[in-house]
Amino acid sequence: MQTDPNAHDMIEALLKETRTFPPTPAFAAQANAQPGIHEEAERDYLGFWRSWAEKLTWSKPFETVLEWNEPFAKWFGGGTLNASVNCLDRHVEAGRGGRIAFYFEGEPGDRRTITYAELLHDVCKLANGLRKLGVKRGDRVAIYMPMVPELPVALLACARIGAAHSVVFGGFSADSIVDRMKDAECVAIITTDQGWRRGKKVPLKATVDVALEQSPSVKHCIVSKRVGDPVAMRDGRDIWWNDLVRDEPATCAPEAMESEDLLFLLYTSGTTAKPKGIMHSTAGYLTGVTATTSLVFDLKESDIFWCTADIGWVTGHSYIVYGPLALGATGILYEGTPDFPEQDRFWEIVERYKATILYTAPTAIRAFMKWGREHVDKHDLSSLRLLASVGEPINPEAWMWYHDVIGGGNCPVVDTWWQTETGAIMIAPLPGITTLKPGSATRAFPGIVADVVDEEGKTVPLGGGGYIVIRQPWPSMTRGIYGDPQRFKETYWSKFEHLYLAGDGCHRDVDGDFWFMGRIDDVMNVSGHRISTAEVESALVDHHAVAEAAVVGKADDLTGQAIVCFVSLRSHSEPSAALNTELRQHVASKLGKFTMPKELTFTQELPKTRSGKIMRRLLRDIAEGRELGDTTTLADSSVVLDLQSRVQAASGKEE
Ligand code: PRX
Repeated sequence: MQTDPNAHDMIEALLKETRTFPPTPAFAAQANAQPGIHEEAERDYLGFWRSWAEKLTWSKPFETVLEWNEPFAKWFGGGTLNASVNCLDRHVEAGRGGRIAFYFEGEPGDRRTITYAELLHDVCKLANGLRKLGVKRGDRVAIYMPMVPELPVALLACARIGAAHSVVFGGFSADSIVDRMKDAECVAIITTDQGWRRGKKVPLKATVDVALEQSPSVKHCIVSKRVGDPVAMRDGRDIWWNDLVRDEPATCAPEAMESEDLLFLLYTSGTTAKPKGIMHSTAGYLTGVTATTSLVFDLKESDIFWCTADIGWVTGHSYIVYGPLALGATGILYEGTPDFPEQDRFWEIVERYKATILYTAPTAIRAFMKWGREHVDKHDLSSLRLLASVGEPINPEAWMWYHDVIGGGNCPVVDTWWQTETGAIMIAPLPGITTLKPGSATRAFPGIVADVVDEEGKTVPLGGGGYIVIRQPWPSMTRGIYGDPQRFKETYWSKFEHLYLAGDGCHRDVDGDFWFMGRIDDVMNVSGHRISTAEVESALVDHHAVAEAAVVGKADDLTGQAIVCFVSLRSHSEPSAALNTELRQHVASKLGKFTMPKELTFTQELPKTRSGKIMRRLLRDIAEGRELGDTTTLADSSVVLDLQSRVQAASGKEE
């Protein structure tokens, strides 16, 4: 396990956090999750998951609950179903077509309400359009869009015809789209002319055009109109969404999918430069997201649920689209950033739609704290009844601020730990039952068997820390890495026998509550986004001036971690401020703007062991201004001393 000298202090600080918040009797009485649910799931783990699967609408009921051929699980075998039917048709057929599925708020302030009947109508028309283009069951379709209503429509239209979607977050670069589309051999891409971000137009279609030059498998590009400026359209390949659907019928026979059929791929960063296509199944995934949406968010008919994540990440897949829609909930879909046009935009939205549940990330909470509570106090947030957090560890200070300032001291705060790979929330309080602790994700969801183990894979006694692992398969677990079962086994199932390795460090307190400590591999978490050090390094060495690069995550008050690069140049290049900026921008253009490194330091050489391995631990020490750890294994210790003095000099200048 990566040893961070700061980790010990952090753990000490966290474990000294003794404030507790038991559920109020009023919340407990009305909660979806009632006491005994964890124990019941423990007694009959398969029965627990079966009962949630039975709440889905099946075209053919399943026969078996679990077939486990480690590390490959098959849940709910023998059954068939369709995800879009579960999210739409069943509500409309039950006479609830007039219910609002989404309140959409565009960044410029335009608004739309979309009912379940309208969503079904739009999904069917697009699904028919896709079929007409020749997209069929078993194909993969890329989606690269801003947060507009057409985005969930696109996901559900793919699901309706049995094509797996592969959403690429709208902040990714053309190169990143190419890598993902090539790996999945996508046959089509759905995009938008442009999007809005902080008042500026984001050229999505133009980015897709660049990507399509290098993506031979993609035959069709469907373009929805958001901004309306002219964009290039290539004859025979590009088609406007509206033209595609205009004459299509408003009904569309759904494909009856096998439980295990691929619902979607979502690429995530690992420890190498190649992103992993995380696969999710149809029935198991839907079971996991419906159970967690209902029990962790305590979702009710009367709720207005706002998950502020982008649908480009797993949080948006699970808790904007599939979980809430499968439960027939009403959600908010917001296109823009929290600070546009003013830093009170979120609170204006909560007040306008009377949001009752808010699900956001610690980075956002820390930004709100920095901007000041006056932006919050301008608005009536009394509709809120539950707050939730995801994406990175939440520090107790941010937790308390969220609880007191946003929640007015009246809302439980549920910190939810999970991953793209887990599909659904794994560790989180159940708000009517669990005593909350600021900074702790508390306990495993019913039907999830989590543990913290040491280097040998043995359970760490309560009060200690180690690796978070999951001991038993669960329905929404990833079915693997697309096209690479070996990497799936090696990454998650090889360090410990019979245990799923998540890659996070975690402590348990004496009550058994889980406290997450961050990644233990070479994956950074910047504003809740997973970015691999190897990906940034390979983007840097792609630049003609760079000989070698090493990248580390440095603790950052706002974004959790910040990207710090150490670069040695080829002999023909000289360090300069201009090159420093150029290299950081190069990373942004290779990977996406959100990966722009915060700091970059030039160095003659990188600190390496005698066997040539870059010593990231030392680089982290240098980046975070700590005393250097053990340098005896270094080939040349003058390298780090030189680097240390440069970084110190640079940070002195900043101050
Ligand atoms: O390190 C953990 C962190 O985010 C990683 C998963 O990232 P991703 O697959 O992009 O999914 C993010 C949204 C589910 C985890 O390995 N993480 C996520 N939630 C938490 C967290 N770390 C601490 N506390 C959390 N609540």
